[in-house]
Amino acid sequence: MRRIAILTGGGDCPGLNAVIRAVVKTAQRHHLEVIGIRDGFRGAVEGDFFLLDEAAISGILPRGGTILGTTNRDNPFAFNRVLEDGGKITADRSADVLRNMREQQIDVLVAIGGDGSLRIALQFWRLGLPVVGIPKTIDNDLMCTDQTFGFQTALSVAQEALDRLHTTAESHHRMMVLEVMGRNAGWIALYAGIAGGADVILIPEIPYDIGKVVDAVEERKRQGKRFSIAVVAEAAKPLHGEVVVAQIIKDRPEPVRLGGIGAKFSVDFEALTGIETRVTVLGHLQRGGSPVAEDRILSSRYGVAAVEAVLRGEFGMMVALQGRDIVCAPMADAVAQTKLVTPADAILSVARNLGICFGDG
Ligand code: F6P
Repeated sequence: MRRIAILTGGGDCPGLNAVIRAVVKTAQRHHLEVIGIRDGFRGAVEGDFFLLDEAAISGILPRGGTILGTTNRDNPFAFNRVLEDGGKITADRSADVLRNMREQQIDVLVAIGGDGSLRIALQFWRLGLPVVGIPKTIDNDLMCTDQTFGFQTALSVAQEALDRLHTTAESHHRMMVLEVMGRNAGWIALYAGIAGGADVILIPEIPYDIGKVVDAVEERKRQGKRFSIAVVAEAAKPLHGEVVVAQIIKDRPEPVRLGGIGAKFSVDFEALTGIETRVTVLGHLQRGGSPVAEDRILSSRYGVAAVEAVLRGEFGMMVALQGRDIVCAPMADAVAQTKLVTPADAILSVARNLGICFGDG
């Protein structure tokens, strides 16, 4: 064992650089070289590799984004290329990745990604490439781990936004709606809503009846509360309604861009109640900037654990947080399905006991 390659795939999130740093530092202690792959699996296809030495990782712990670059467009098993005449072809370029790895004398790939990138990494493991995965995403929607890194930072951004919305909501006696990310899972909305004292939380896992939300806000008014705060996950949807899609981008592994439910909910709510309602879409602010302490620590733990897994020869596995421990879980299990909020989740019961309305019975 001499050389580890490392890539970051999918949407960026705070803590990526902290993981890269931890992998490089731990590898150095065990006399392993780390090769960075630029821009996720695109760089693996095109052989865009460089040595990650001490100088490359110096000062990156607090930096957001990823020094490796990333993309959520390029899947080596269905790689899109634009031809000179403007036409497009899709080809399986996985053999190019394996050849590049051989040529660079890479023994193991450490893939830092969400479900999409880890699914691709798993395909490579099945083709014989030793792979270790590290769970990344602000959405916290990967199975087998209690937490992905990036989630805590996204939460703290959303919570700060809610604190700010509170003061202006109170002054103007308005309903303030905050639309947050999370793709098909409601984790960011649920945790941020609790942390930020929201009155209403709408998540994809619980389709909402707007009448119930109106009742809850009217009840607040009867108690003398002249403003309300709602957190709406981007994939929340009304009962018998559809998810609001901002855009469909063809030829992408993830063609659906979510967005717009906050605005729809606001218009519907104001029409029903007459209460002035305003929406804020937090968007990519949740993904940018410096990681909070908890994400820096989790990222560092994951990076160290990934190299330890490499040294033990545990491949096809993802490092994961289970309880207080970092363990290894089969990547196949981690990406088999999306981790969604379920009625059994204790945090949901916490929210309900706090009187937060989910727009259901
Ligand atoms: O998966 C992370 C995430 O930020 C989701 O919450 C969101 O739906 C999506 O990525 C946005 O992706 P993009 O940056 O490609 O628009």
